[in-house]
Amino acid sequence: MTDDSGKAGHSLWGGRFSAKPADLMRRINASIDVDRRLAGEDLAGSRAHAAMLAATGVIGDVDEQAIQAGLGLIETEITAGTFTFREDLEDIHMNVEARLTELIGAAAGRLHTARSRNDQVALDFRLWVREACGRAASQLRDLQRSLLRRAEETADVLMPGFTHLQPAQPVTFGHHLMAYVEMFGRDAARFDDARARMNECPLGAAALAGTSFPIDRAATARALGFDRPTANSLDSVSSRDFALEALSAGAICATHLSRLAEEIVIWMTPGFGFISLSDAFTTGSSIMPQKRNPDAAELIRAKVGRILGSLVNLTVVMKGLPLAYGKDMQEDKAPTFEAFDALELSVAAMTGMIDDLTPNRAAMAAAAGSGFSTATDLADWLVRRLGLPFRQAHHVTGRAVARAEALGCDLSALSLVELQALEAGIAADVYDVLTPAASVASRTSYGGTAPSQVRAQIARWKDSLA
Ligand code: ARG
Repeated sequence: MTDDSGKAGHSLWGGRFSAKPADLMRRINASIDVDRRLAGEDLAGSRAHAAMLAATGVIGDVDEQAIQAGLGLIETEITAGTFTFREDLEDIHMNVEARLTELIGAAAGRLHTARSRNDQVALDFRLWVREACGRAASQLRDLQRSLLRRAEETADVLMPGFTHLQPAQPVTFGHHLMAYVEMFGRDAARFDDARARMNECPLGAAALAGTSFPIDRAATARALGFDRPTANSLDSVSSRDFALEALSAGAICATHLSRLAEEIVIWMTPGFGFISLSDAFTTGSSIMPQKRNPDAAELIRAKVGRILGSLVNLTVVMKGLPLAYGKDMQEDKAPTFEAFDALELSVAAMTGMIDDLTPNRAAMAAAAGSGFSTATDLADWLVRRLGLPFRQAHHVTGRAVARAEALGCDLSALSLVELQALEAGIAADVYDVLTPAASVASRTSYGGTAPSQVRAQIARWKDSLA
């Protein structure tokens, strides 16, 4: 393109250039397709910067008013979808500045005083990630509310608890759902923590060394909702660990989502039949008319690849980068946007599925008693009632399980005579502990699966999420 003075080269940085960049150079250099998403943040940063420049007397009030009016117009154009994003102007910062120049003329050239694209992009991106962390945390709390509601309905619905995906001890469905309430609670807190740590304003670091103009960094920080300005100009333009931290929180959260998604897939198979999902969250097969597939759960299970991939992507971009800014860092945005888009959709779809699912109480209760799941209760009874050392009780119980297995029956179906053949002291009240309901009701230790404990945790979370 041709700049305003009629010379070949770039209108905003082409002063020392006499020829146009190669087409390939332009293509590899341009980021506007990605960073146009930062338009709102860029305008907010420019408005705060211009106001501060005027307040400190670095630019005149008349120029500032023209700049604010022009930025307002640009905002209107962007919202209306009439703004033309130009690849030859590289990025969002130069697209906005070029349009400002068209709209208000020479005064536009004063906006970039005491500023560089390096602190500008550091600011814009930080504002975006800060917002994304806030959104993720609040979305996760909505998911927790949905889980809490379902847990309250099912605090005493028996189901098998598993280890190694083998029946281990009976629990309740509500207790199982509450495990995820805890996980998503920590995920939300991780986003809060990341947000709090990143809440320092890099604007005013300029290219890398600060500026000789008498700027007021505290004022721009305040205007943009930051706790304080960043304290080192090199760090301000070089660091992207705020995004890495947000992506780490995202990757951990996506891992949790994938586990719940996997369980939904398992619970939905006819072999388990623990839950069903309605037409709203399942799909059919184009060839097998009987199918009802949990595609949303499977996709959530898979999204962790994208989200963790983004963390690895940006970590590798930042690895070994010398201070201060390097164009490598322009590659920070695409993976971050992609990860948060995927995470947002995943959390929303998971919330939808939790609201949608119907627990099959009968199937869960039947499975809760399978696999000799009350064996630990028998061992505990032998310790409590007969004073056996736990190891010995474990051994006796193991033999009872073997006997039941040989007879093809459940532990609770073994006769007293059978049991007494293994341990003479066993009495009839042993049967009180051999049902899944009794097993669950007895686990009243703090955080245990007894419905009373589960309800106490539900009440605590309801309070904290109110
Ligand atoms: N588009 C660039 C980015 O996203 C903005 C900063 C460019 N700075 C520079 N010195 N070329 O990183």
